Amino acid sequence: MNRHVQFLLPFGSIGCSIFRLILFEGILYILKVAVSPPYFRFPSRPLLVTGGAGFIGTNFIIEWLKNSAATILNIDRLSYGNRCNVENIMESSKYFFAQCDIGDLEQIKALLAEHRPVAVINFAAETHVDRSIRSPENFVQTNVVGTLRFLEAIQSYFRALPDKEKDVFRFVHVSTDEVYGTLSLQEAPFEETSPFCPNSPYAASKAASDHFVRAFGQTFGLPVITTHCSNNFGPFQFPEKFIPLMIHNALKGKPLPIYGDGEQIRDWLYVTDHCSALCRVLEAGRIGETYNIGGNNELRNVDVVQVLCDILDRRKPLSHGSYRSQIEHVEDRPGHDRRYAVNSKKMLEELNWSAKETFFSGLTKTVDWYLSHWDWMEQITGSSFQEWTDYNYGNRTRAQA
Ligand SMILES: NC(=O)c1ccc[n+]([C@@H]2O[C@H](COP(=O)([O-])OP(=O)(O)OC[C@H]3O[C@@H](n4cnc5c(N)ncnc54)[C@H](O)[C@@H]3O)[C@@H](O)[C@H]2O)c1
Repeated sequence: MNRHVQFLLPFGSIGCSIFRLILFEGILYILKVAVSPPYFRFPSRPLLVTGGAGFIGTNFIIEWLKNSAATILNIDRLSYGNRCNVENIMESSKYFFAQCDIGDLEQIKALLAEHRPVAVINFAAETHVDRSIRSPENFVQTNVVGTLRFLEAIQSYFRALPDKEKDVFRFVHVSTDEVYGTLSLQEAPFEETSPFCPNSPYAASKAASDHFVRAFGQTFGLPVITTHCSNNFGPFQFPEKFIPLMIHNALKGKPLPIYGDGEQIRDWLYVTDHCSALCRVLEAGRIGETYNIGGNNELRNVDVVQVLCDILDRRKPLSHGSYRSQIEHVEDRPGHDRRYAVNSKKMLEELNWSAKETFFSGLTKTVDWYLSHWDWMEQITGSSFQEWTDYNYGNRTRAQA
């Protein structure tokens, strides 16, 4: 042992071990703080997540609680069917939940004053394109008016923070690649500078919310960052959406409805890759910037369903034949975008992030999760889900493959 530190060890070899342990822990702590994201400077204060009972929010919270010592405050209105997502993570002592609408200014202000969050990730939104075609106004109410009111509450909270807390505060707004509109097969993927050209009421409402977020950054100096991700897939996704609907219907022996010719292309992003991207944005994203987050997995819808059937054929074989025989082409969605794809180069070059899962590895994990959480599926596909699927698919005529 170094004789210069020997005098510090009056308790012989046990004292020496304890000293080493304390020294090691101390160095580790200093290193941890040095490399930690800025918001760790306030470890007792939560990260505020809105819409954390939804698909991506639930995954984000689970990953966060696994990997971080910091706490989470989840604010969610519980629009439909997702109370069981909250119950899944309720037990953690690092987790607080408040059932609240992001547009409820008074309640949001009270929650901000009580919990004093150190940063915000805004997932809360109405998200289903087909529902936005049925009732566009609901989408304006949450995604535009709700986001605006939420920004107002956050803005007045931010203004009153001490300077050192202002320095680390971030408002990360989770948006979608759908704001850019549609691409032809020949066009290059959307970049952060691509103009907005939304085609569905959902995409239009998200584009409007993005504009308000940007305006609050420019006008009031709120430290905002916006992300545009591609189609996510993975555990906890509500089975109205494409992949879990197919898993649900396949295992229930129902038709697998593919809109139109099934040639629409999406860039599939496994949800935990999206969560790690958001953590990087929160840690090191530049204020006022936007970041595209894609999975680099462009596939036609019809290919997605076929690969899914092949995985199910292996994981839960039918007594005869393949799940592929349940595929049915149905009348297309009006205004259905043909192709989405984003260029995630900025995430790689600035934040050293890229997606880890391939489409196949992510889809296999997804299928395995739904198979081992069938009780979740049963719980979430009650009468309102049935009513929706009857409405949305019941009257569609068959289409050509
Ligand atoms: N899922 C995707 O593929 C995808 C792709 C691109 C962008 N996004 C964006 O990511 C975010 C999360 O999407 P998701 O797939 O998890 O959606 P989701 O529908 O599963 O979850 C949204 C959550 O927001 C909550 N919510 C809705 N309105 C609210 C309100 N007024 N106040 C409080 N909470 C409210 C809902 O109860 C729900 O829990 C959304 O902003 C969406 O636009 C999703």
